[in-house]
Amino acid sequence: MVDLETNYLGLPLKSPLVVSSNPLTYELDNLRQMEDAGAAGIILYSLFEEQIELAEMGFADYYQRHREEMPEPLRHIADMKEYNQGAGNYLAHTYQAKKALSIPVIASLNGYYSSGWTRYARLIEAAGADALELNIYYLPTKAHISGAEVEQMYVDLVREVTSSVQIPVAVKLSPYFSALANISKRLVNSGARGLVLFNRFYQPDFDIVNRAVVPSLDLSTSSELRLRLRWVALLTGQIEADLAITGGVHSVEDVIKSLMAGATVVTLASALLENGIKHLTTLTNGLDQWLESNAYTSVKEVRGLLSRAQIGDSAALERANYLNVLRTARSDD
Ligand SMILES: Cc1cc2nc3c(=O)[nH]c(=O)nc-3n(C[C@H](O)[C@H](O)[C@H](O)COP(=O)(O)O)c2cc1C
Repeated sequence: MVDLETNYLGLPLKSPLVVSSNPLTYELDNLRQMEDAGAAGIILYSLFEEQIELAEMGFADYYQRHREEMPEPLRHIADMKEYNQGAGNYLAHTYQAKKALSIPVIASLNGYYSSGWTRYARLIEAAGADALELNIYYLPTKAHISGAEVEQMYVDLVREVTSSVQIPVAVKLSPYFSALANISKRLVNSGARGLVLFNRFYQPDFDIVNRAVVPSLDLSTSSELRLRLRWVALLTGQIEADLAITGGVHSVEDVIKSLMAGATVVTLASALLENGIKHLTTLTNGLDQWLESNAYTSVKEVRGLLSRAQIGDSAALERANYLNVLRTARSDD
């Protein structure tokens, strides 16, 4: 029997397999099934800044009923009612989830702007969450906003949230920074205990017949994992925080690669939406068997084996990889 025990954000977990925010986490019954199937922890679907603000303005119901009468730019603000039922319900769900499960429950706040809504972190803590994942989803589209300003906004937001709660906070961020290692360090210095790499930005599609920009949601595939592997491998040893991978973890092999990069945990959404909650059992058993058949006695032994800090040959993860890939393509001609 291999020791799969893991410590993430100071929380003891029975394995490194954690459920990522997704709509399956909305039902208490699903949460129980996830625990039974081997989930080591669950990150609940997010409470969105937009929901909090609409509710606080006393606007949420009016907005729902009169959307068509709104000026065009305001109609695009999603009230997320189809996805979850708002702030009060979120706190109740967190509390119920905590009561129903014995594994850690991580709540998720999703926003980008540092303002009053961050005090919901305190309410989430009071509802019993073991930790908080802060998903900062901001697309800097204005030409007058600089990268430095965006980064400062992230840092301020993380500092505001981490200083208002006792529970550990992990930050889920995107890969679109010009100096990812530097901003990672700054976020950790601002109080983040973990970094979750990477947010997937869903790209809208174009409907050429109706001449409309339409939302589109594709589940991930394992090919998306490579971006995460590289960055976790590069950051491991440089950053004093737990690193979690989100995006592209589907198979046992994906889990092992993630651990070898240096990830403390992998978090799964698409794989569960595609294969069902039972996939957690397949992955947990598969991880156990793979480690055993390769003579490892614990996950700790594989963690970071292919990180930059361990392999010595950092060039393989950096620019030289690019040159090597181009060279290989040429020699295949
Ligand atoms: C339908 C769906 C809903 C999601 N909802 C949330 C959410 O509420 N908050 C969040 O931080 N991430 C959300 N995510 C992103 C996932 O948690 C995860 O980070 C992403 O899908 C990449 O992981 P995967 O490759 O395992 O799917 C959602 C993903 C999907 C597919």
